[in-house]
Amino acid sequence: MPKLKKINHVAIVVADIDESLKFWRDALGIELSHIEDVPSQKAQVAFLPLGDSEVELVKPTADDTGAAKFLAERGGGMHHLCFETDDVAAMLADLKAKGVRLINEEPIVLPGRKMAFVHPKSTGGVLVELYELTK
Ligand code: CO
Repeated sequence: MPKLKKINHVAIVVADIDESLKFWRDALGIELSHIEDVPSQKAQVAFLPLGDSEVELVKPTADDTGAAKFLAERGGGMHHLCFETDDVAAMLADLKAKGVRLINEEPIVLPGRKMAFVHPKSTGGVLVELYELTK
């Protein structure tokens, strides 16, 4: 059976990264690693590693993504929780067999990683990302 290893990151959708850093970096004291444009997600992301995990501040850069709609509808907030696993495809098959509703039935394959999302309808209202590091 595929295993979860750890919480990889918590993603928070924000309208303004600099403004959000006033809390997450300056007030709370989590160090900023870097800010990166992530074209595949149509977002700019600030990475704030903390222990074995990370806080990600996600600013949508286009209007047609889930994160952009989330920002428009709710004004931002906690967007998803990401678990790192040793095998995303096996985890998806296992969850599907258990009747869990998936957003991605197959992993999205990107350089260095595979990922997929589980539908909030099956998780108690939290969008869950599954993430696997690859070579
Ligand atoms: Co994520």
